[in-house]
Amino acid sequence: MDRSDPAWKGQSEYTPLLLRLYDPLVLGPIARFVWRVPAHHIVEHYQRHIRPGHLDVGPGTGAFILRSGLAAGSALTILDPNPNVLAHCRPRLAQFDLTAVEADVLKPLPIEARFSSAALNLVIHCLPGPAERKAKAVEHIAAVLEPDGVLFGATVLGTTGRHTPQARAFLKAFNWNGGFDNLDDSEAMLAGILNTFFEEVTIRTIGSAAVFAAHGPRRSTRAARSHSSSQRWGLVRNRSSPHSSQKASHSARGAPSQRSSSGLVWRIWTPSSAVRRRARSR
Ligand SMILES: C[S@@+](CC[C@H](N)C(=O)[O-])C[C@H]1O[C@@H](n2cnc3c(N)ncnc32)[C@H](O)[C@@H]1O
Repeated sequence: MDRSDPAWKGQSEYTPLLLRLYDPLVLGPIARFVWRVPAHHIVEHYQRHIRPGHLDVGPGTGAFILRSGLAAGSALTILDPNPNVLAHCRPRLAQFDLTAVEADVLKPLPIEARFSSAALNLVIHCLPGPAERKAKAVEHIAAVLEPDGVLFGATVLGTTGRHTPQARAFLKAFNWNGGFDNLDDSEAMLAGILNTFFEEVTIRTIGSAAVFAAHGPRRSTRAARSHSSSQRWGLVRNRSSPHSSQKASHSARGAPSQRSSSGLVWRIWTPSSAVRRRARSR
């Protein structure tokens, strides 16, 4: 990737050294104590949604794929613009029928295959804003999913997230250094983007992050675009207060929700719930 590319910063820090430190440091204490998203939540999310014929965008060290329960020999594609990431993952993921693609998810994907599942895990916060640019990643992944395919993952939220003071300090530092570009990322922005390109979207917040799954890619770009312009990203506001309790902040007023086995409430963002909210706020 060219240094002048807006996506350069978000992927350039994954050197061989950082990749060696990533699992013990980033997926360990930083995930647990800074973002308050212990890795087991993400592992469970992978286990719930991954299917053979999986595309992992921005796989990092491949740690979650390895713990996902994906059967050895399953078709797996990893995609990342950083060759260090692909070189790190290749031997670790050798038990799978692996294809590695060096590409930027913000550009149309150079892929003919169609996938049953795709992960965009802890990547959106690394992508350059604004929301319209981040949305390209979701659009490009939706285009290579099977009609009943699922996109899932998690992302650290920006200033509207439920952060601790330590998390806010890390957020500021990572945005200053360019590894993150997510100060404006909100749950509402994420919901708007996912609903533009998928039929059914669920989002829950855990600590500083939004954990999402989106089913059924919208097939017609025109339909997605017209949905997008009718919804306007950001209009579906996250009403949860940073100071409200975890339980309260997970139950959206007016949005249908269901309780998961872990006791957390999953919010179901549908076009109709978005429309209902807008009608009510008029
Ligand atoms: C924070 S790591 C997440 C790694 C892994 N998904 C995980 O959950 O542990 C971000 C990953 O996204 C990749 N990435 C950053 N920008 C990207 C882009 N424009 N297209 C595809 N991957 C990108 C990075 O190279 C890195 O592998």
